[in-house]
This record gives sequence, C-alpha cells and structure tokens, in this order.
Amino acid sequence: MQSILPRSIPVLGRQALSGKAMLSTVTHGPGLFGIAMPFGFNAKTAQLTTLKSRERGPPSSIDGCLAKTMPPGFKAQVANLDTFKLPERVTGTAGDVKLGQALVRAWRQDGIVQIAMSDKHMSLWQDAKLASRQFFRKQHSEKAVCVDSQSYAGYIASGEEVTDGIADYSEIFTITRDLDPSDPRVRAKWPCHGPCPWPDVDMKEPMVRYNESLGAEGERLLQLAELGLGVSPGSLTRYTRDGWHHTRVLRFPPRNATNGKGKEGRGIGSHTDYGLLVISAQDDVGGLFVRRPDQRERFANWEKSAAGLKEDDDGWIYIPPVEGVHTVILGDMMQYLTNDFLTATPHKVGLNTRERFALAYFHEPSFQAVLKPLDKVSGGMRLGRSKEQEGIHYGTHFTNMFMRNYPDRVTTKRLIAEDRYCLLSTPEMRTMGAAPAS
Ligand SMILES: [Fe+2]
Repeated sequence: MQSILPRSIPVLGRQALSGKAMLSTVTHGPGLFGIAMPFGFNAKTAQLTTLKSRERGPPSSIDGCLAKTMPPGFKAQVANLDTFKLPERVTGTAGDVKLGQALVRAWRQDGIVQIAMSDKHMSLWQDAKLASRQFFRKQHSEKAVCVDSQSYAGYIASGEEVTDGIADYSEIFTITRDLDPSDPRVRAKWPCHGPCPWPDVDMKEPMVRYNESLGAEGERLLQLAELGLGVSPGSLTRYTRDGWHHTRVLRFPPRNATNGKGKEGRGIGSHTDYGLLVISAQDDVGGLFVRRPDQRERFANWEKSAAGLKEDDDGWIYIPPVEGVHTVILGDMMQYLTNDFLTATPHKVGLNTRERFALAYFHEPSFQAVLKPLDKVSGGMRLGRSKEQEGIHYGTHFTNMFMRNYPDRVTTKRLIAEDRYCLLSTPEMRTMGAAPAS
C-alpha cells in the first residue's frame, strides 16, 4: 500500500510550492538488505532552501530502493523526506521566516526533518565515523575502563542500557561536558558532572570537533524554529546559553550476532529524547524508525515515562539512510516549551543484517535551566497553571532519564550513595548561570 502525504514547502524567492513526503508501507523478511543511494542528490550544488533528495521517478521503484535497507522483521512506512538547506547565519530575513515555517510544518507533520550537511560537516562526520569504528573494535577490556563514576560519559556495553525494562543491544560511547575534577561543580558533587573518560586522543579530537560544529547548527535550527513559531528571538535560545549539549556515539551489532541480553531484532526500544533537538547522522545500513505526531497518542515523558510507547504497534515510519544529510527530531523540552504544538518524536532502532554506526548529538538547555512554556504557542493541551509556574528543571529531567536508563551503572550508584540527587532542588542548581563560586 502506498500513501502520499501533502505538505506545503515554500522556496526562497519563489512562490510556495507543494512538496510531498512520500511514504509507502513495506514489510521485510529476513535476508533483505542493501545500500540506499542518494538518487542524484548533490548537497554541493544545491541552492534552494528545500531540496528533494532525488529526482521524482516512479514511486514504487524509488520507495522500493529506499526500503531495501529496512531491518528484517519490521513493518513500516518508508519515508522519502525533503532535504532542507540551512543558511550560514540566521538574521530574520523573509527567507529565514519561510524556512522556519517550513521546518515547523515538517516537524508537526513527520516528527523529523532532513538537513543537508555542509562540506565541513560531511568531512567531520567521516572523521567521527572512522574514530567510532576504531573505538568499538577495541578489546572489551579496553573499552570497559572508559567509565566515570561522577558523569554518565563513557562506554556503555551492549545490553547495559535499559529501555522500558528491556536491555538495548546498542553499544555506546556517551560524551557529556568534559569537566576536570577540580571544576567547582564536580567538587560540589553536582549530579552528572565530571570528566569524559576518553580512550585516547584518536577518539577525542574528531568527536570534539564534530560536537562543536553541530552546536552552531543546533543554534541556527532553534533560531529558525523561533521564526517559524512566531515567537520573539531568544525564546528558545535563551535556554541554551551554557547548554548541556552531549553526544551518543552508537554501534549496533548485526541481528544475528548479539549477546542475547535483549530482545531479538531490537536495537533500542521506543522512547522520546529529553531535550530540545537531536541531530543525527547514520551510515548506509539503516535501522531508525519514528512515529509521526498524533493527537491520539498524547504523552508527556517528564510526567510519565514514554519508554516502550507503541513499540509493537503499527504506524512506524522507517527513515532510510541518505548520504550527506543530518536528521533532526525533537525532544521533551521542545514539547513542554511549545505546549504540545511541537511534540517529542517517539523513535526506536531495529537491528539490521550488518553492524550499524550512528552519531546522535543532543542540543540541550543549560543543566541549570528552569523552562517555562511559551505564552504565544499552544498545541491545544495547555498545562495547569501551577505546573506552568513551576516549570521544568532540565538538570533534574536529564538526571532522571539517565538514572532510569542506567540503573546499575557506577554513576547511578554513587549518585544515590552520596545523596547527590537532593542538590538538584537547591537554588544554585537553578540559575541558568555558570558554575558556582568555588
Ligand atoms: Fe533516542
């Protein structure tokens, strides 16, 4: 079955065009796999704000090619997303406003947008992917020592992360802010604050460069989102000063080469991410599924865990790999700030027939930020007045998510043993400011 979902796509300097996100439903049996090609897409020569990732051809053949990378055993619609190109700077021009509006529309329709990588991003992604492969190929004993008892940065073995009570097969290196033990926040035992236990400089340098570059992209996306939402400049970006940005470097084993701790074919169970934006890159293997926003599927991960949400239900969309793009989904804090006008994107990962590498960069509020919903934006599900006034402390939400995902990690045990959690409610942890005086 094939459905075609219309979406209005304004293009800079031209009249608004009608674009289409094309979806077709495919079920894969075991043994089907392939490599998704970009179908003539060329980020270097692209000039328009929104690009098609291919020349339009017969939907059945194109969707069939994209679908070939879908992990076996899954039934889903296959997305063929429009690709947006970001300007180098967002200055509030009419073109910026139109692009922001198009991004917001795409997030509200699909829950995900696709952004053309710049040449620089492409190069940084290639370097980071190589470093990731080299790290994950190390002996387990070399990787296992990359753990810190104060931060959640470092190595997470396949089967260590838990989503909705079931072990995930993802093997991860998490990068949070790399703070020296002498940093006043570390000395004051702030939850989640500590060093990043890098294995070596071969891993550290490309990852730091990649993260710094995506930090700038995250800010531009938030500025465009402000324009698209029609809210004042700074309504979103005021929270990302001193943002608690972090990255998950991910490897997924082939579905027939797991350690047996999780669920067959499941890489990561369904969940929503916790902050503002998640900017991801994936190799050519394929495994990501998302759910489109749906008012009938109301959830609020900060109130009640969305882990496991609709995991085995119909309605998932497969996001095939496309060379030269980032995908961007939304997190819990974007949903909270916009009163459900934009919603956090439920997603999950399936295991494919080959190992798969991906990088997910999280563009986040400050750890100390207390977020309040925007006055002028509402998806029709406004919170009670008391909850609005109280706000959400991002550091507490982040800590809750990591304690839930890693209940047996040394970091969680130390956090509990040293009673660090209670610090999250202290005034100095809720300032939006920098570190407290030492
Ligand atoms: Fe996620």
